[in-house]
Amino acid sequence: IHNEIFQDSSYASKLAALEISDLIKQKQKEGKPCILGLATGSSPIKVYEELVTLYRLGELSFNNVITFNLDEYYPMDTDNQQSYYHFMHQHLFDHVDINPENINIPSGNINLEEIDQYCIDYEMKIKKLGGLDFQLLGIGRTGHIGFNEPGSHRNSGTRIITLDHITRRDAASDFNGLENVPKRAITMGISTIIKAKRILLLAWGHKKASVVKKTIEGEITPQIPASFLQDHKNITVILDSEAAADLT
Ligand code: F6R
Repeated sequence: IHNEIFQDSSYASKLAALEISDLIKQKQKEGKPCILGLATGSSPIKVYEELVTLYRLGELSFNNVITFNLDEYYPMDTDNQQSYYHFMHQHLFDHVDINPENINIPSGNINLEEIDQYCIDYEMKIKKLGGLDFQLLGIGRTGHIGFNEPGSHRNSGTRIITLDHITRRDAASDFNGLENVPKRAITMGISTIIKAKRILLLAWGHKKASVVKKTIEGEITPQIPASFLQDHKNITVILDSEAAADLT
């Protein structure tokens, strides 16, 4: 794993946004769609801010972009303020020229009996487009990427999972209390993520230092699902100095 450490997350986020923007433009030149895997949470917010700025400056268009989000709580309605659907529209999609038909976010209101097929279809849709050109990731304190919690298999695909207690506790303030945090989520799998041609993982702040060390320097284990990223050939982990503090 290649990692880059920056003083602060603002400049690092700018660089991440520029890489994404360059990829979109390169695909535009080739007359191809750009297939982006996107994350929610606090880590990528400034990256999306930068992308919106580039769009407003007239330097970037999303007209060839097709997106797939990593995950969504289950159950969850799209009009719920806590939904990742809402998050993505608020931080990115409402402000750029992406075709709404090109936005894919796992749905949090599929019937339980239909979820397995829904997840297979999500996976197939990515595959038919030739896979993800790029995947943006954050990391949870449990070592999750997407919502692949400890115990997730290397070969896992898109599926419904049970959220770890630590993950639910970390989300409690967003939901006005632990009891309101959904117990499950739909997430892309480890194998879905690892097949992306390029991955950027972002981690900011001292709370991530310990899991960042385990991810980069620890053994590859389902107990730290992000450690499977060590096998990826084209990943950069972008850290601020606090998140990098425990690295040797
Ligand atoms: C969100 C996601 C999660 C988050 C992780 C870190 O789509 O897949 O893995 O990236 O929980 O969250 P933040 O960035 O809020 O610390």
